[in-house]
Amino acid sequence: MNPPAVLLLPRETIRHCKIGGDNGYDIYPKTRILVNAWAIGRDPKSWENPDGFYPERFEENCIDFKGKHFQLVPCGAGQRICPGLAMGVATVRGIHIG
Ligand code: HEM
Repeated sequence: MNPPAVLLLPRETIRHCKIGGDNGYDIYPKTRILVNAWAIGRDPKSWENPDGFYPERFEENCIDFKGKHFQLVPCGAGQRICPGLAMGVATVRGIHIG
């Protein structure tokens, strides 16, 4: 709900793409992109009752924060994913992640 980094590291597109369907947005090559991890984490299209604090919502699915599930990206994803992810998690909850 409250990712420490609201915006991920800036990206630059390398080719044209379209998001949001045929009437969506054209994103041209060499466009700087800011991914809003905070807004993604509160998107009602991905999360039921997104502003509610229900940790148990994670008990019924496999969604985690390690960059493979794009509806939850507190540590980013892809080539620029946080390299300190494992250290951060170990510090926060005192265990080793696989
Ligand atoms: C719970 C703790 C942490 C969180 C939530 C966090 C979050 C993030 C996020 C969101 C990014 C941007 C990723 C992206 O744009 O895809 C990032 C990048 C980065 N983080 Fe962390 N981080 C944490 C801990 C750490 C720690 C402990 C270290 C170092 C010991 C670290 C070092 C870095 C570095 C160097 C980058 C930049 C990587 C690059 O430029 O490609 N982070 N982090």
